[in-house]
Amino acid sequence: MKILVVGGGGREHAIIKKLSESKYHPELICAPGNAGIASLAECVNVKATDIQGIVSLAQERKVDLVFVAPDDPLMLGAVDRLNERGIRAFGPKQNAAIIEGSKAFSKELMKKYSIPTADYETFSDADEALAYIRSKNSYPAVIKADGLALGKGVIIAQDYAEAEKAVNDIMRDKVFGESGNKVVIEEFLTGHEVSVLAFCDGQTVVPMVSAQDHKRAFDGDKGLNTGGMGAFSPSRYYTEDVAKQTYDRIIRPTVDALIKEGRPFKGVIYFGLMLTKDGPKVIEYNARFGDPETQAVLPRLKTDFIDIINAVIDGALDKINIEWSDDAAACIVLASGGYPVAYEKGKKIEGLSSVPKDVYVYHAGTKFDGDDVVTSGGRVLGVTAKGETLEKALEKAYAAVGKIHFDKMFYRRDIGKK
Ligand SMILES: Nc1ncnc2c1ncn2[C@@H]1O[C@H](COP(=O)(O)OP(=O)(O)O)[C@@H](O)[C@H]1O
Ligand SMILES: [Mg+2]
Repeated sequence: MKILVVGGGGREHAIIKKLSESKYHPELICAPGNAGIASLAECVNVKATDIQGIVSLAQERKVDLVFVAPDDPLMLGAVDRLNERGIRAFGPKQNAAIIEGSKAFSKELMKKYSIPTADYETFSDADEALAYIRSKNSYPAVIKADGLALGKGVIIAQDYAEAEKAVNDIMRDKVFGESGNKVVIEEFLTGHEVSVLAFCDGQTVVPMVSAQDHKRAFDGDKGLNTGGMGAFSPSRYYTEDVAKQTYDRIIRPTVDALIKEGRPFKGVIYFGLMLTKDGPKVIEYNARFGDPETQAVLPRLKTDFIDIINAVIDGALDKINIEWSDDAAACIVLASGGYPVAYEKGKKIEGLSSVPKDVYVYHAGTKFDGDDVVTSGGRVLGVTAKGETLEKALEKAYAAVGKIHFDKMFYRRDIGKK
């Protein structure tokens, strides 16, 4: 069996690691991959967003399956294009991936099907958006660019001046391009934030174990929002009772809504949730595995990943039983100094071979420079460990972090503490 994984970050490394443990012993190819992925898969230098290039690679190499992991190729219709050529692919089609690709669409869907989420209005005119913010006069105000924005399109404005700047940046200066043609302005929710991923085969939906991530750059949730500085699983707040409420009011209704809209979802749906005093509410949907939540969730999966992938594609999820380890898992992200703004690349990474066997280091932004592994992104590594308790997993992961070094490396010391 030959599998092509599209992408080249920590999430893709975690997906490939899990695939490499399958009883089917697949031959793995990754486009474009990175220095860590290269130890498990053949890396081919085709960009994840080069859909034609991905289709050609899949055809040339006669792969049995393409796993499309990142958001942008899904939104560009990678799965549709692959299927048109008769190639099996894991991930939603373009018309279902829109639950992530357009926040205005997903809010409208939730409103139509009474799925709990923050109250909101959508605007395509900046003056009207600003008039609405003034009339509400309630802060913090949450302002969201409609489309994909590399995790930077949401601004929590503390006053009118900040809100005005956000609306001007997004809608007039188009700092996120076309993604800012519309904005969603929504009510500020408070509570614990939890991520729940779920496998969905179009009909049956099976939630995975819960996770929490840390978005801000520095300890104590200070600094700018990032792609994620660490994650752990499970979340202590996602109790069985909360899980049942979430399934009944959010997860099942979302999948049913997508069926009714003629957009059946096959792949992984990510539910970003706020556990409010009025129950769980949706902050956002993603149409794929989250990064870095995947690095904390997939290591806990006991069932053969390829059996699940095939069940998702074939609409047979109801026929398999998905099992998880009781261990907790924690992932600490090591980042380049200056991330998420400006940072240098090409720093030699030392100590990787001193990491103990029971800790796994997922590579996010690395590449080879001769025989050296060097940094090539803002988020560089995800040091991940499992343990009987979250405390034990964190202890192991942080001990391993102490062995690794590169110039200007930084990381949060409070992962799993909230
Ligand atoms: N309505 C809201 N109330 C409070 N916080 C919010 C709200 N919407 C978003 N956030 C915060 O902003 C973060 C990013 O928003 P999200 O909708 O997940 O966008 P994206 O991940 O695409 O940047 C969330 O993880 C959450 O912490
Ligand atoms: Mg989010």
